Amino acid sequence: MEKENVIVVNNMYKSFKHNDILKGISLTLQKGENLGVVGKSGIGKSVLIKCIVRLIEPDRGEVDVLGTNILKCNDIELNEIRKKVGYLFQGGALYDSMSVRENLLFPIRRTQFVDKMHDAQELIEGSLRSVGLIDAIDKMPSELSGGMKKRIALARTLILKPDIILYDEPTTGLDAVTSGEISELIIKIREEYNTASIIITHDMKCAKIATDSIKIMKDGRFLEQGTYDQLSRSEEKEIRDYFI
Ligand SMILES: Nc1ncnc2c1ncn2[C@@H]1O[C@H](COP(=O)(O)OP(=O)(O)OP(=O)(O)O)[C@@H](O)[C@H]1O
Ligand SMILES: [Mg+2]
Repeated sequence: MEKENVIVVNNMYKSFKHNDILKGISLTLQKGENLGVVGKSGIGKSVLIKCIVRLIEPDRGEVDVLGTNILKCNDIELNEIRKKVGYLFQGGALYDSMSVRENLLFPIRRTQFVDKMHDAQELIEGSLRSVGLIDAIDKMPSELSGGMKKRIALARTLILKPDIILYDEPTTGLDAVTSGEISELIIKIREEYNTASIIITHDMKCAKIATDSIKIMKDGRFLEQGTYDQLSRSEEKEIRDYFI
């Protein structure tokens, strides 16, 4: 049976002034798939996923998310799509002045996802349990370690029960053991929430654990796609070099 595509990017371009970043890039993400994206710093990985949810407006190309052409849809439709796409920002970005509970309440309020406070608390507790941090519910971000902050940011992404999660460097700045735990958590979340994900990462251990296949980004397009094992054993040194 053919799998359903949840994201299709076709021939997308994006330049900033004379800086051409995306030059006809294409990808498909299938239901239930975890797709890794690797590539050198500054190559345009974050720009790519920001274009997918129109945090950055692409210059040209097509982007279909969950069956909606998001470059042609109106603001209401775009908002509906964004509720279904969790975005874990590079750096995590919790609100420092808000407790964990308030940080998680924020997306519920913003989208009016549920109208009853009682339901909101249940959602908050459920997503904290999913990331193993229910005990942190009344802590402030300053009381959390880097790994805990990433987990809380992920819990905040899960609050709206997304169909898709876009992970931008989920393990950066963490030690190897904690990175491994976050990578395992990404797999657990896929099973629990039935999500598909794009995972941008420099961390090859994360790529190995958390992805089904990996795309290598270079010069505004993708060089190659394959599983971790295929790419790390590629005949081409240029490809293998990403896996050292
Ligand atoms: N809003 C913006 N305005 C102008 N230039 C931008 C903007 N966002 C990104 N860029 C430029 O686009 C290029 C790609 O940036 P991007 O953040 O996508 O890189 P990246 O591959 O995610 O790098 P890293 O691995 O370091 O996170 C960079 O040259 C960056 O300066
Ligand atoms: Mg980036």
